[in-house]
Amino acid sequence: MALTIGVDIGGTKMAAGVVNDDGEIVEHTLRPTPAHDSDAVAETVAEVVAELSRGRDIEAVGLGAAGFVDETRSVVRFSPNLAWREEPLRKKVADLVGLPVVVENDANAMAWAEARFGAGRGRSHVVCLTLGTGIGGGIVLGGDLYRGRWGMGAELGHMQVVPDGRPCGCGNRGCWERYASGNALVLDAREIAAAEPERAKVLLDLAGGTPESIEGEEVTEAARAGDPAAREAFGNIARWLAQGMADLAAVLDPGCFIIGGGVSRAADLFLDRAREEFARVLTGRGHRPVAEVRLAELGATAGVVGAADLARLR
Ligand code: BGC
Ligand code: NA
Ligand code: ZN
Repeated sequence: MALTIGVDIGGTKMAAGVVNDDGEIVEHTLRPTPAHDSDAVAETVAEVVAELSRGRDIEAVGLGAAGFVDETRSVVRFSPNLAWREEPLRKKVADLVGLPVVVENDANAMAWAEARFGAGRGRSHVVCLTLGTGIGGGIVLGGDLYRGRWGMGAELGHMQVVPDGRPCGCGNRGCWERYASGNALVLDAREIAAAEPERAKVLLDLAGGTPESIEGEEVTEAARAGDPAAREAFGNIARWLAQGMADLAAVLDPGCFIIGGGVSRAADLFLDRAREEFARVLTGRGHRPVAEVRLAELGATAGVVGAADLARLR
């Protein structure tokens, strides 16, 4: 059975695994990402690959990277939330590991894994959204991963949803990822807690007293405990997520959305609302089927599985 290695390079962690052609992880490992030093990122990837290759015949390596990857799947041209600028990641890693390497956008890799082995199995059109630091997007159409003309398609997190809205790492304002990501959830919760502390008692208590100290896990915990501010923050995520999906449905009519990323671990706090709201704001509602909105199935390893599978199919 042919084995490939997938490495999902996130802003804080690097997840890697040996994957077989059924999309199963044979061995898995996790490292911190040396996010501010791009040479160190490539070196850490090489170390991880060396470790996972020991005693195995590895065919190729796939890297999932949180940024705009060029059409040759070699260079990370830009990353809104990481330090990469025109980074020749493929060459750096290939020189170190001596194996074929392909670079793919992290969310594309995840979408591919979910479409083939996860929540999108058996469907030919799928839009995958990962809600984390930003919003990652991956589009599978007719069974193929859609990359666009220059490899940079499916940057769904950077659709503008609010004119002149919150500034974004991409250089624009009002991007979707500033309203429906994990970071957006925290931003919302902090704003609400600062404006109406009496509605955020549980949340502020959990966070240690000040709005600025609120983090994502605390918003989740407070919302589960019924804190009105935390629940409102999740309500906002649901609303923005729904509106974005409705717009995507108008363009792509995918029939299936898959929601993953860190925020999706709190799906019980927003996903049903997002589904209801999606059906409500859908263009031509009542005269078209309502797409399914499914929770991702492969969890934190989807990016690893997808990158490895894309390396196999390179
Ligand atoms: C980046 C994407 C990435 C996503 C999730 C966005 O800010 O533009 O390239 O896929 O975050 O990591
Ligand atoms: Na993408
Ligand atoms: Zn943006």
